[in-house]
This record gives sequence, structure tokens and C-alpha cells, in this order.
Amino acid sequence: MKKTIFSGIQPSGTITIGNYIGALKQFVELQNEYNCYFCIVDQHAITVPQDRLMLRNNIRSLAALYVAVGIDPNKATLFVQSEVPAHAQAAWMLQCVSYIGELERMTQFKDKSEGKDAVSAGLLTYPPLMAGDILLYNTDLVPVGEDQKQHLELTRDLADRFNKKYNDIFTIPEVRIPKVGARIMSLQDPTKKMSKSDPNQKAFISILDEPKQIEKKIKSAVTDSDGIVKFDKENKPGVSNLLTIYSIFSGEEIPQIEKKYEGKGYGDFKGDLATVIINELKPIQDKYNELMESTELDDILDHGAEKANLVAGKMAKKMENAMGLGRKRK
Ligand code: TYM
Repeated sequence: MKKTIFSGIQPSGTITIGNYIGALKQFVELQNEYNCYFCIVDQHAITVPQDRLMLRNNIRSLAALYVAVGIDPNKATLFVQSEVPAHAQAAWMLQCVSYIGELERMTQFKDKSEGKDAVSAGLLTYPPLMAGDILLYNTDLVPVGEDQKQHLELTRDLADRFNKKYNDIFTIPEVRIPKVGARIMSLQDPTKKMSKSDPNQKAFISILDEPKQIEKKIKSAVTDSDGIVKFDKENKPGVSNLLTIYSIFSGEEIPQIEKKYEGKGYGDFKGDLATVIINELKPIQDKYNELMESTELDDILDHGAEKANLVAGKMAKKMENAMGLGRKRK
């Protein structure tokens, strides 16, 4: 029997090439070997303020992107989290086995709440919702970028705790982080993760950026002053990040690329890198535009929610039974 994969992406605006490399691109390869569930996690997005019209638009846009990059709805189940109520049910039950202390220790919570006076309770209880997403599907493997590793460790802890305390119903999932590209860095500060919520637009490339924008952003990407195209994460974080992106988009190995630019400056390297990115994104953007105009997407998501509801609903019932929720019938 095929093993099961679950992963999700937040529909919180722009999807960056970091999300593409760390997550989406992997999903396309994995869908052939695994029973895959890919989710648009809209309930995670509302842990921070959202504009309702924009959120709705972003949900549709992310669904179109999943399909445009090559997710085949005949192979994988693609759905919107809030259309499968078992996720919220599971989240509540898992919150009740989570400790406040362990949630407060999550680095993402610390980063996102730092310096803010109004922090939603949802931002703190986000990891049990994510654990529910994963555990509802008997997931074996979760492909994510490096920034989600801590949430995955907590998911495993919660599953184990629930199994021991109530009933042994959950599969303990493994994390799968790509060897190259697990953490694509900001183009403006290569010591920071590339993030879609970065207020500086030049720090990230969106999958939907126009060729001209991509050229501009790569040109202004922070490097160093020694002019040598060489991978050295410690001393040349900017160039190393660009080399990683080049390698993933072109399929060439990093030493091969270093050789190609021996004796040449950053100008040539950056110009070619922009072209490599533009060429990979062009067919994705064309397909995306086509999908956004069609009703095909609604059929895919309706069907996906139906399939997900069947599996997740059963597991939520099992969780309730294990915890003693609901009535005993005479
Ligand atoms: P999100 O929406 O922030 O990111 C989606 C995916 O993209 C990866 N990623 C990156 N990979 C490499 N370099 C980067 N700079 C980069 N930035 C983001 C993330 O690691 C992620 O894989 N909590 C999750 C969403 C989620 C989820 C889940 C994931 C909710 N439930 C269940 C897996 C399973 C998040 O906020 O990802």
C-alpha cells in the first residue's frame, strides 16, 4: 500500500520561490509515489489579521498555483482546510492535550508575537491545529521547509501523548526536509529566511512576479565585494543563496555552476540567474492565469473536500471516542 503524505501552505498573500523550492516543487515529485493530501490552510492564515476579500482571493489563487506547478488532482487530493470541519474539531481536542509552556516555546510564536500588544490566542494554539491537519490522515511523511521542523516535532509529541493517554490511534509522522533548498534566504538579508510577509518587496521573488521585476530583484540582491561565484555559506551567504536557487531552477550541480562563472563577475551570473528563474516560472504563470478564469478549479476543490471529509471525519470520530466525547447510546 502507498504511504500517505500531508502538507499545507497558508494562503496569506504572495507565494515565494522559497515556498516553491521548499514545498511545492517537492510535492509534484512526491505525488507519483505517495497517497498525497495537499491543503490550503486558510484557518492558519486567520491567526493574524486578514482582509476578508483578499483572503478569499488568496485561497483561490493558491489553489490555482498548486495545479499550475503540476499537482494532478487525479493523483493528489487538493482541498481547502475550512471546508473540512474535522480540522477544527481535531485542533480543539489536541489543544486539550497541549501544554501552554510548550506552545510558548515555539520559535514561530515568539517571532510573530514579539513586540505586539494584541496577539491572538490562535497564534499560540496554531501548532495543535497543524498537528490535527497531519494526524487526521494517518500521515506517514510531511514534506516541509526547515522552518516547520519544530512544529513537526511537537506534532509527533502530541500524537505520542494522545496515543499513550487515550488510545493508540495515530500514526507518528516523519518530517521530510529537502537536502538542497530547505531554507531559501532573503535577497536583501541573506541571514534571514525568505518570507512572504517581509515588508521589503525586494527581499523575495513571488511565483507570479513579472520578468522585469525578477530581473530587478536579482540585480539588487545583496552579495559581497570579492566578486567570486563560490558556495561558502559562512562567508558568502548572499552568493551561496543565489547559487542554491540557480542550482534548483536549472538542475545543474553547484560546482558546475561555479566553474561556469570562474573569472566572471556577479553581473553575468545574476543576469543568467534571472533568466533561469523567468524560464521556469513562465509556463506556471500561463497555466495559473488560465485556471483563475475557469470553473475547473471549483470542481477540483469540491472533489478534494469530499474525499478529505471522508477520511478526516472518521479520524475525528475516533478521537472523540478515545476521549469519551459525545453520548453513549442505549
Ligand atoms: P507556510 O505557508 O509559511 O510555508 C509553506 C511551505 O513553504 C516552506 N517555506 C520555505 N522553504 C524554503 N525556504 C523558505 N524561505 C521557505 N519559506 C517557507 C515552509 O516550510 C512550508 O513547507 N505551518 C505551515 C503550514 C501548515 C502545514 C500544515 C504544513 C499548516 N498545516 C501541515 C505541513 C503540514 C506554514 O505556515 O507554512
